[in-house]
Amino acid sequence: MITAAEIQPEFESLLERKAFERIRREAFDYIARGAGSEATMKENLGAFSKWKIRPRVLRNVAEIDLSTTLFNRKLSSPFLFAPIGVQRIAHPDGELASARVAKATDVPFVVSSAASYSMEEIASELEESTRWFQLYCSLEDTVTKSLVNRAEANGYSAIVITVDTPVLGIRETDAHNQYSPLEEGDGCGNYLNDPAFRALLARPPEADMKAALQKQIDIIDQPGLDWDELKKIRRMTKLPILLKGILHPEDAKLALEHNIDGIIVSNHGGRQLDHCIASLDALPDIAQVIQKRIPILLDSGIRTGVDVFKALALGADAVLLGRPFIYGLAVNGEAGVRQVIHKIRHELETSMALAGARTIQEINSDLLFNS
Ligand code: FNR
Repeated sequence: MITAAEIQPEFESLLERKAFERIRREAFDYIARGAGSEATMKENLGAFSKWKIRPRVLRNVAEIDLSTTLFNRKLSSPFLFAPIGVQRIAHPDGELASARVAKATDVPFVVSSAASYSMEEIASELEESTRWFQLYCSLEDTVTKSLVNRAEANGYSAIVITVDTPVLGIRETDAHNQYSPLEEGDGCGNYLNDPAFRALLARPPEADMKAALQKQIDIIDQPGLDWDELKKIRRMTKLPILLKGILHPEDAKLALEHNIDGIIVSNHGGRQLDHCIASLDALPDIAQVIQKRIPILLDSGIRTGVDVFKALALGADAVLLGRPFIYGLAVNGEAGVRQVIHKIRHELETSMALAGARTIQEINSDLLFNS
């Protein structure tokens, strides 16, 4: 019988193929595969191909400036590391290695709730570098509050609440592989030593690791999360709050009405709702609603600097890099992540020069053509 695990995957890039060759099959599948038939995952890339750059010439592009500003902080380039949990499945150093690159390259780092290492360990690698914390609102308010407090105490300057995961998407390959990195204990860096989380456990986690992991999995999804629940988190912190996973313009409107500080247009890399709209396709209508009142970020499908250019031209202020840096991590640890960041930066800089855009502000929809 042929099993899904035996089918040779189609690789979107050489980097992905190299990652496939380096790490165990179940871990690769967890990273690379998407929900359901993977229609959305593929659509995320296809959406970028529909747009072509319509370049301007003779604009003196001797100086190209990639810098931009987000929440009053200067970014040396218009991208951040996406919150990706369980990075230890790609490389033993996991988030510690990618955080070292974030510091060295001056790219802000978004730490996942489901990180393999704790937010304190990652913060100490990052030193003074900009970091945000991605929050999976817990079923237990005490745990949510404790995570937010720890983020504040450790220099995180924004909270990203992921709102596209009230339940986990249907990931057929993981089910077939019977693989869950959380069950294996790879995404518990933020939980096992959390005082509020430990208080929930009848026994200390060291005494019964399996029970602790199950408890974490049980409380990490919050199907009851709604706009009212969000008000609680709004009251927990003065840090800027971004919502990650907005795809509908009406939700962008509601975000404004609820004093949210920023939104991330994302479909979680096609890992949640299959057959939902590609992030890039959702962007223009959302930008229309937001009218520059709060920052708009985008992820899901960013693979090259040209993709960054297109997302900015359609209304994003910055983007999040996801799978590419994890593939870099899998292939060659810290050095692999660094190569990915340098490559995307170089591609963006070159595309800007060739398209006649000297600054991030000069990248606009007039430079795009929809074919
Ligand atoms: C993710 N993503 C994610 N998002 C989030 O809010 N919290 C998380 O813990 C994770 N974990 C995670 C693990 C892995 C292995 C992947 C690939 C993705 C989603 C991530 O932040 C981002 O939205 C997507 O990666 C964007 O899609 P692309 O560009 O990577 O395809």
